[in-house]
Amino acid sequence: MRGWILPPPIEPIKTKQQFEAERVAKVTWLIQHEFLKSDRIKDALLKVPREDFIPENYRDYAYLEVPFPLPGERATISCPHSYPLFYEPLGLDRGDRFLEIGLGSGYGAAIAREVVGPEGLVVSIEIDPLTFEYAKGNLERAGYSDIVLVNGDGGLGHPEFSPFDKIAITAACVAIPPPLIDQLKIGGRLISPVIKADVQDLVLYEKDSEGVQRLTICEVLYVSLRGIYGA
Ligand SMILES: C[S@@+](CC[C@H](N)C(=O)[O-])C[C@H]1O[C@@H](n2cnc3c(N)ncnc32)[C@H](O)[C@@H]1O
Repeated sequence: MRGWILPPPIEPIKTKQQFEAERVAKVTWLIQHEFLKSDRIKDALLKVPREDFIPENYRDYAYLEVPFPLPGERATISCPHSYPLFYEPLGLDRGDRFLEIGLGSGYGAAIAREVVGPEGLVVSIEIDPLTFEYAKGNLERAGYSDIVLVNGDGGLGHPEFSPFDKIAITAACVAIPPPLIDQLKIGGRLISPVIKADVQDLVLYEKDSEGVQRLTICEVLYVSLRGIYGA
């Protein structure tokens, strides 16, 4: 059976200093395991307190490689390694216009906001209203007021702010929703878990003037995309 074993919910007791030490240790681990290479992504992972994006009774496990459940239907905050796993092949960088499908906890959007900097743009779409409100609260408390947050079906993208340099779909789909390919710049990249029989591949797409090139990165396990292009 593929999946994760959740540790039991507990009252959080860890201090800010303990979380900081765990965050530094996690970043060292991500570098050693070759998930993390770029300085901008590294600095973002060191800056954003992941524990502030996790429901209280799982907060003390913030830096474990486990996806924790969030308010809403089938929503999770992904494992810590998932963020460099997606953002490194995307080449997420300063100044990018970035679209995330699947806001979840808001943590991935906060990391992206730090990476793209003030000259870039982050738009994130979440389909589940409960999850959306949870993420919005997390981001407000963390001081991120400049991320465009949308409660809706991310399969449709966000034409108003397109074209995007980079797009990450953080839920598994059978095929990439066509509006997202349309809203990607020529030279832009999109990354997504893609369902293939009973497994999922993380696939990187690059759009050029001829069409879209595809590169499979590794096997992954994500919640399924909902909405009109849902799995
Ligand atoms: C693995 S979680 C996202 C983790 C998130 N990026 C984070 O950092 O916490 C996948 C999310 O995609 C959302 N989702 C599923 N289908 C969607 C759709 N069509 N449009 C927008 N969000 C969707 C789920 O509700 C869930 O919150």
